[in-house]
Amino acid sequence: MNLPPYKTKMVEPIGLVSRAERIKKLKRAGYNLFFLNSEDVYIDLLTDSGTGAMSENQWAAMMRGDESYAGSSSFRNLQNAVKSILGFPYIIPTHQGRGAEQVFNSVFVKNGMVVPGNAHFDTTRAHIENRGGLPIDCTVSEAYRADFSSPFKGNVDLAKLEKTLKKYKSRVAYILLTVTCNSVGGQPESIKNIKAVSRLAKKYKIGLFFDIARFAENAYFIKAREKKYKNQNIRKIVREMMSYADGALMSAKKDAIVNMGGFIALKNKETYSALAPSAILMEGFLHYGGMSGRDMEALAQGLWEGTDEHYLKHRISQVEYLGENLSKIGIPILKPVGGHAVYIDAGKTLPHIPWNKFPGQALAIAAYIEGGVRSVEIGSVMEGRDQKTHENKKARMELLRLAVPRRVYSQEHLDYVISIFEKIFKIKNRIRGVKFTYEAPMLRHFSSRFTPTP
Ligand code: F0G
Repeated sequence: MNLPPYKTKMVEPIGLVSRAERIKKLKRAGYNLFFLNSEDVYIDLLTDSGTGAMSENQWAAMMRGDESYAGSSSFRNLQNAVKSILGFPYIIPTHQGRGAEQVFNSVFVKNGMVVPGNAHFDTTRAHIENRGGLPIDCTVSEAYRADFSSPFKGNVDLAKLEKTLKKYKSRVAYILLTVTCNSVGGQPESIKNIKAVSRLAKKYKIGLFFDIARFAENAYFIKAREKKYKNQNIRKIVREMMSYADGALMSAKKDAIVNMGGFIALKNKETYSALAPSAILMEGFLHYGGMSGRDMEALAQGLWEGTDEHYLKHRISQVEYLGENLSKIGIPILKPVGGHAVYIDAGKTLPHIPWNKFPGQALAIAAYIEGGVRSVEIGSVMEGRDQKTHENKKARMELLRLAVPRRVYSQEHLDYVISIFEKIFKIKNRIRGVKFTYEAPMLRHFSSRFTPTP
């Protein structure tokens, strides 16, 4: 049995508005689920980012928030937690992950430079491109075969990475590993692969940085799937992972289980000093960077809780439960199930909808209409247009992501979601594709509007 290591102390009411209402609300939202009011959503699987439930200890820590502009004890508490858990002595707080990305890329990416790594998250990619840089995806090719199950689909193809490093030489800004890799399904990277990437980074004298939004989930998968680490403590695995990096960018809204926050953590003082002026300019003084003292307290405590093995075991099994039961009723999902979300293969579920009519978006719409379930397309809508040709880019997979917030939903909630997809599966041939009525110029999935095609 998958026992939750917590019980509920405070509840938030939710309710299901009628099907007719849902259809009306969706139309008003331009068939973009980001524009729905949250009270019109019953089960919200839009994201696992900032949507987790904080613990009593996090709320208690918030009362200790020191709101001094500079030198606050809350900043030092955060610094100590980052040092103890991740091993990095230098930290620059930011308001969230993309704040860290902006500061970092504004200093390290110049026009014409490249950033190789496993599949970059969309805001990461946008920040690199915004500086005139080019993210280069070196993920192993099996990551793009949805039904092919292997333990570390977030791994880097080392030959491809080395070829890229040789080709671009001094134009490589840095190497970025996203652990776990959200863009290919929340898939982990093995220590063996991380180590090999680190060797290449040293050989070519290039900095290696991690996007650690979901580092604890990655460490859990290492323990579960990489033989050598079977009996190791999660926090020890985390320390080893981080020891190969020069630094890390964190969206604390994920594995640190806070509603807002982020940071850049660094191994050496030179990198810290290079980033500090931009951080002050873009995020705020070095001792708060867009967070209040109480935010930093909750984040410091959340780092301990997010790396607790009992919590992680329950968390990962919950997501697995959702995936396995969807699979059992015939829904094609990306395998194996990722750490934070189940990714449904929408292209395969709705084969009658071509990629440029966006099957992932169509399935997201169906899940809301049939059950008030909110999810997000990860496919050709999110992929956007080619920077040069301005043509729609075809995503390698048309997916629908069901992201599970941390410590929020029970198994009954997940059983409900499974029942909704069972219903959808029966009527799938009636689901129609969509086209744009307004297309946002950048990160278009957030703010575009759609209409169903005939
Ligand atoms: N890196 C990864 C791997 C992410 O998944 C995200 C956000 C970010 C960076 C940016 O962090 O949102 O704090 O600015 N992912 C969210 C999601 C939005 O739904 O997957 P942020």
